[in-house]
Amino acid sequence: MQILDGKALSDTIKIELKKQSDVLGLSGITPGLAVILVGDDAASQTYVKMKEKACDSAGIYSIIHKMPSTISQEKILETITMINTNPNIDGVLVQLPLPKHIDTTKIIEAIDPKKDVDGFHPFNVGRLVAGLDGFVPCTPLGVMRLLSHYTIDVKGLDACVVGASNIVGKPMMNLLLNAGATVDICHIFTKDLKEHTKKADLVIVGVGKQNLITEDMVKEGAIVIDIGINKTAEGRIVGDVDYENVAPKCTYITPVPGGVGPMTIAMLLENTIKAAHNRLV
Ligand code: GUN
Repeated sequence: MQILDGKALSDTIKIELKKQSDVLGLSGITPGLAVILVGDDAASQTYVKMKEKACDSAGIYSIIHKMPSTISQEKILETITMINTNPNIDGVLVQLPLPKHIDTTKIIEAIDPKKDVDGFHPFNVGRLVAGLDGFVPCTPLGVMRLLSHYTIDVKGLDACVVGASNIVGKPMMNLLLNAGATVDICHIFTKDLKEHTKKADLVIVGVGKQNLITEDMVKEGAIVIDIGINKTAEGRIVGDVDYENVAPKCTYITPVPGGVGPMTIAMLLENTIKAAHNRLV
């Protein structure tokens, strides 16, 4: 069993991205990321702080637009328009979830697809589905990068994606499909989850449910990628996989923390630098 060390790989990627930032600097370009953070959700605040710190380490200028949970949709849309037209900003990220009175789709559709470093705009979603270049959501992109770093070729593998969100599961499914895997995608209405996970060479789970994937649900020699982030009663961070009992059956497995999480942030930086490169063309 080998651990897929996302922390180590993300550190290497950040060093490489800092070099790319420095090269862009020679052309007078400082890559810029604008983040919109609405409300005071503790997890969102933590994620945004981590993103801000990571930007610093990669030579990316970042600005956080903090807004109260009572902010109107129009105000957020106005801010996005302002960012879309700001030549010093290459990427826009609206931290999700948004408060209930805000129409998330409208907000995402207002982002300039060329600055959509989260890859959530339907323009980029469509390009991904069609197998064309565009911005790809950071978490599934990070998973693909982690797999390829460890020279794991998904072509021909039976993959099972558990969780069908727009942020993780659906783009993960499309990336795997584009790379030649046969993909099952499971969700809350799946009749028998185990039936799907048990036959998979590659199980990728991102649901947010501690111990969802147990030892009996995974075949011997499987590759297991855990995207879940859960807090235990004792305050420990764990994933969706019963790591202790599943890991001995795997050829490869990601830890939580230190697996996919750091890769997500590294891919956000990479997408922002990619957007900044567009200033040169
Ligand atoms: N909320 C949870 N994950 C994400 C993410 O990847 N991007 C944004 N913008 N919000 C999130």
